[in-house]
Amino acid sequence: MRSEAIEEKPDKTVSRIILGTWVMGGNHWGFCDDLDALRAIDTALDNGINAIDTAPIYGDGHAEELVGKAIQGKRDRVFLATKCGLDIYSKKYERNLSPSYIEHDLSQSLKRLKTDYIDLYQCHWPDPQTPIEETMAALQRFREEGKIRRIGVSNFNDKELREAMRYAPLFSLQSHYSLLERGVEQGILPICRENNMNFFSYGSLGAGVLTGKYREVQRFPRGDARSFFYRFFKPRYWQKVRILVDKLEEIALTRDTRPGAIALSWLLGQPGVRSVIVGARSSEQVLDNIAHVPVELTSHEMKVLDHLSSVIYTR
Ligand SMILES: NC(=O)c1ccc[n+]([C@@H]2O[C@H](COP(=O)([O-])OP(=O)(O)OC[C@H]3O[C@@H](n4cnc5c(N)ncnc54)[C@H](OP(=O)(O)O)[C@@H]3O)[C@@H](O)[C@H]2O)c1
Repeated sequence: MRSEAIEEKPDKTVSRIILGTWVMGGNHWGFCDDLDALRAIDTALDNGINAIDTAPIYGDGHAEELVGKAIQGKRDRVFLATKCGLDIYSKKYERNLSPSYIEHDLSQSLKRLKTDYIDLYQCHWPDPQTPIEETMAALQRFREEGKIRRIGVSNFNDKELREAMRYAPLFSLQSHYSLLERGVEQGILPICRENNMNFFSYGSLGAGVLTGKYREVQRFPRGDARSFFYRFFKPRYWQKVRILVDKLEEIALTRDTRPGAIALSWLLGQPGVRSVIVGARSSEQVLDNIAHVPVELTSHEMKVLDHLSSVIYTR
């Protein structure tokens, strides 16, 4: 089954930068002040970002509650994306894409988000215990009922993506992609391009690394997402990560901008990338992340960045 084009009706064209809200959950990314988070969402919506990506697992529903609060009175101009299938209610955080679980998950997300529909509903991670055909049939039913408008998947590999596409029209795939993580270039991105499916990157700023904020290798407390989710924080890769960030800083200087703007511009320039999801904990970060993006990079700059990023995980 072919994916739906981005122009599917009722249409809301997704902005090229999507606001990510993992940090706003407040439990996996250090402390995040609720007021700052609400202001960050407002700032994003007032400055050209119309899409927000959230999930029940970000703060066990807290990020969704904040998003729900922030979009009151603005719902019609927000493209709201959330996810399903990680069991926060049992506190085991296991994957569960069974129809009964996701029906419950959706009803809770709608309550927290204070809305009666989700623009994009994404399977957060594949669940090997549930036949994907059953998951997709349930999602199709929610769509027919008007509770969700589009179906997406996240973190699916090539095989899982092809399988899911057989049972439902998929609007998008969301996965980890940046100058620090390029695995999707081999299988996933070509499939998205061939099938006219939207690709959304997460970790687009390398969890902050690509802004140049860290001069030294970091140690995060246990439980903080940055201590286990992103391999580029490992000390053995740090030297090569830093060489890449130095280059981003050097290029940024020539354009009177910041390294993060160069990293996001590189990503937005990759064939098949529809939009980049960028997390932020404050209005200042939001404004910083949209300033000057996209910067036009020369083919030489693109090649140098490609090279420095491709050698990070080699010996
Ligand atoms: N589907 C999935 O499984 C999945 C997985 C991961 C993420 N996501 C989504 O993608 C979003 C973004 O990805 P990400 O969370 O991995 O991280 P990211 O976008 O690469 O980095 C975001 C983090 O970098 C720091 N930052 C942002 N702007 C900054 C600036 N201008 N200056 C300095 N620091 C800045 C902030 O953290 P600090 O202030 O703490 O440094 C922010 O939380 C998430 O929020 C979530 O919506 C989805």
